[in-house]
Amino acid sequence: MASLGCVTTPSEPHTQSPLATAQAQLAAAVRHLGYDDGLHANLATPRREVHVSVPLRMDSGEIRLFHGFRVQHNVSRGPGKGGLRYHPSVDIDEVRALAMWMTWKCAVVDLPFGGAKGGVAIDPREHSASELERVTRRYTSEIMPMIGPDTDIMAPDMGTDEQTMAWVMDTYSVNQGHTIPAIVTGKPIAVGGSLGRSTATSAGVVHVTESALRTAGEPLDGRTIAVQGFGKVGSHAAQIFARAGARVVAVSDVDGAVRADDGLDVGRLTEHVAATGTVVGFDNADALTNDELLALDVDVLVPAATQGVIDEVTAHDVRARFVVEGANGPTTTEGDEVLAKNGVTVVPDVLANAGGVVVSYFEWVQANQTYWWTEREIAERLEHRMVAAYSAVADLARREGLSLRDAALAIGVKRVAEAHKTRGLYP
Ligand SMILES: NC(=O)c1ccc[n+]([C@@H]2O[C@H](COP(=O)([O-])OP(=O)(O)OC[C@H]3O[C@@H](n4cnc5c(N)ncnc54)[C@H](O)[C@@H]3O)[C@@H](O)[C@H]2O)c1
Repeated sequence: MASLGCVTTPSEPHTQSPLATAQAQLAAAVRHLGYDDGLHANLATPRREVHVSVPLRMDSGEIRLFHGFRVQHNVSRGPGKGGLRYHPSVDIDEVRALAMWMTWKCAVVDLPFGGAKGGVAIDPREHSASELERVTRRYTSEIMPMIGPDTDIMAPDMGTDEQTMAWVMDTYSVNQGHTIPAIVTGKPIAVGGSLGRSTATSAGVVHVTESALRTAGEPLDGRTIAVQGFGKVGSHAAQIFARAGARVVAVSDVDGAVRADDGLDVGRLTEHVAATGTVVGFDNADALTNDELLALDVDVLVPAATQGVIDEVTAHDVRARFVVEGANGPTTTEGDEVLAKNGVTVVPDVLANAGGVVVSYFEWVQANQTYWWTEREIAERLEHRMVAAYSAVADLARREGLSLRDAALAIGVKRVAEAHKTRGLYP
């Protein structure tokens, strides 16, 4: 498949920033769609962004200062929607990239949302629950003028979870004087969360994997899978793949990876992680590194950890036939080019991991209606949306000789641009 041609092969390996990757992807889509520089600049630039200081009183009494960000990339199709990330390397450019990807993702699966993202540069593993609660409440109150159930809605991302969302919701609601469940998605069921949200991203990853395999005339049953990252996305994806009859032969987290060629017992591995905090040390499995996991000879590789892991160096080692991007931005532009040359089919992040925001949308609709759907209704509607979005992307890719990424971006960017043009420019 042809790429849109935004890539050069550098002689020296380097790490491409997520923002550079996101901008290169947008530039390629803009070229393909024939848009002018003015529209390109509009699509490339966040509508609003804020940088806040987040002072934290540690349990010890010491005061520390952290930096937080919230970016609304585009709101032409509806309120900003996007996760909140806690990771020590979070910075404004990373949040800009993640917000931009949210814009295209919401458009690819045709949700009435724009794209947003937030983050705090903090390592959640180094803090107690009460410290994380104070950071979350202070961050929420600092960005309060910018968020709202009709303006910008948060969800969990790396390093945050449904408890974090409950704290955000409570802080926002207390300040408004009444309970507002639609301010966040991915919150606990007890405070208006949706059935199926915690596994939605992973279920979506499995739906698009099945679709991609079906296009190649193969069943999911019996395929071999490696999953990088055993957090919210990776662990549930591994479980759903295993339940569907696929063989999950390797998984990893930030501490290392484990491998069993006959298939890992994902249920027991999940118990091991609950007890020890890491996949490392799981019995009946061999240890390997994250780089070795990326190079395994499997049918499907699911990067579900962090950005930039498949670059111009590691991409050469990928032997999987399909890469299904559970994480946001796991493949750099150069890495993408190498994978394309080697005939690897990449199901891009803006499509592959959109299941989370699809069920976030369902959660937001349920909260606004104060009427909750059954788990079955949610699962069926999610599958329908994911399979329909995959078909639309795959059809365009086939018709115009594009990669799945370029086709997904073309669909997402075009929908956003059309909303922008139809609304017109104020004043
Ligand atoms: N949570 C969601 O619903 C959702 C939705 C769409 C996309 N995503 C994306 O999926 C990715 C993972 O998110 P999550 O919510 O599962 O986060 P998480 O914090 O729950 O889990 C992250 C996992 O990745 C591992 N990890 C971190 N850095 C690593 C590295 N360098 N090498 C190997 N493993 C590493 C961690 O140990 C952990 O197992 C992120 O890119 C996120 O933006 C998440």
